[in-house]
Amino acid sequence: MSLLHRKSIAELTAEADRGLLRRSLGPLDLTALGIGSIVGTGIFVFTGVAASQHAGPALVLSMVLSAVACALAGLCYAEFAAMVPVAGSAYTYAYATVGELFAWVIGWDLVLEYALSTATVAVGWSGYLASFTRDLGMPVPPVLTASPGTIVPDGLGGTTVALFNAPAALIVMAVAALLIRGVRQSAGVNTALVLLKCTVLVIFIGVGAGYVQRANLTPFIPPNTGHFGEFGLSGVLRGAGVMFFAYIGFDSVSTAAQEAKNPQRDMPLGMLGSLAICTVLYIGVAIVLTGIVPYARLNVADPLAVGIDATDARWLSPFIKVSALFGLFSTMLVNMLGQTRIFYSMSRDALLPPLFARVHPKFRTPHLSTSLTACVVALVAGLTPISKLGELTSIGTLLAFTLVSLGVIVLRRTAPDVPRPFRTPWVPWVPMGAMATCLLQMVSLPFETWVRLVVWLALGFVVYFAYSRQRAAGARRQQRADASGLTAPVDIPSSAP
Ligand code: ALA
Repeated sequence: MSLLHRKSIAELTAEADRGLLRRSLGPLDLTALGIGSIVGTGIFVFTGVAASQHAGPALVLSMVLSAVACALAGLCYAEFAAMVPVAGSAYTYAYATVGELFAWVIGWDLVLEYALSTATVAVGWSGYLASFTRDLGMPVPPVLTASPGTIVPDGLGGTTVALFNAPAALIVMAVAALLIRGVRQSAGVNTALVLLKCTVLVIFIGVGAGYVQRANLTPFIPPNTGHFGEFGLSGVLRGAGVMFFAYIGFDSVSTAAQEAKNPQRDMPLGMLGSLAICTVLYIGVAIVLTGIVPYARLNVADPLAVGIDATDARWLSPFIKVSALFGLFSTMLVNMLGQTRIFYSMSRDALLPPLFARVHPKFRTPHLSTSLTACVVALVAGLTPISKLGELTSIGTLLAFTLVSLGVIVLRRTAPDVPRPFRTPWVPWVPMGAMATCLLQMVSLPFETWVRLVVWLALGFVVYFAYSRQRAAGARRQQRADASGLTAPVDIPSSAP
């Protein structure tokens, strides 16, 4: 039955070895890949929204709650990533555990995480660009820096309606161009950018700490306004749902498994290490940011710059903006890399058309997939407001984490003897804790976000039953026929590049 078709771990690993992607990444590259993917619009932009609209100074509690969910899910991811060291992230793990349909659902859901987060970060990038160019006295026309319909200043003291977020769309295309050039170059660029954005966060914490005022942190949890999610405990919860976006990305290390030199050892190291480093940085930023500015003033596109402007170290503000511009670039780089590698795996399993697994003869990167993904992501980034993108990314990722955690429990029962170079501790409690904390954050997100998630998943089912299922079954028949030396009547050729 094709819905339940599963691949064995050995089959997956053999496929990886046959793959054409180059194994060039070491442990430091992988940790940098994780940090590169994690630190982005979440900390540079959403901290402002989460503090000013939802949690107030208790932003740090929201951050800690999200971090706990991610750490628990990270422990589950790490077991899979070490056990199934092939590209594809949770998608591949699901294929190895529960079966094709489940894998498809996760793969489809992961588009929300990787492609949509790239779009979200691109919009965050555009906000910092607008702010920076304004400071320089050469502003990008506001009508071209927001999604259609957004009210923006017209530059003459009045307001007008934005047409398209052009910088967001253009930066996505630039990221794609670099990725097509090759992962080795991309990883090098990524490491440099990671150093830059970590440095700026450390400086922000170090400088800002001297200006923290107790008054700004009181009351620590502002009273609820009477609406769910607006301050009070529900606000802390909604804040966690929003800030969860800031942690997304540690799992993208797993999508580079096929390009890692020693995936068994380095996958868990890269994932958990990057998550730990970012959590420490985030907690520091949350305390300092809400301590130096009254939280109500943080509903802006560049909250860290607004924070530093409230100190005597205003000279740091342009530095923060420039670092955000470069730093967010690296976030997009890793997320888009992750998306194309997931498509690569899905295409090799014949669930997506062959073009997604076609590799450039010289650069050895999936150039067609990258170009196509970039065009769609650029369009979405140009047309959609950041809050909608961020919430949908978060809910999709939380669902993926929940399913992965479930997968760990299932696989411990169905395949107890498969070697696990890294074992999730305290199974089933850690995976169950991960599921509970992820579901809690999902529940805290707005109803419309749930509707969008359901629509997206329903679309995925249509594609699967109308196209992918038959195609994958045909490819398997072909493989079996090839293996037995017979010619089988198949409608679709193998997708292997
Ligand atoms: N965690 C990433 C960010 O905050 C997606 O931009």
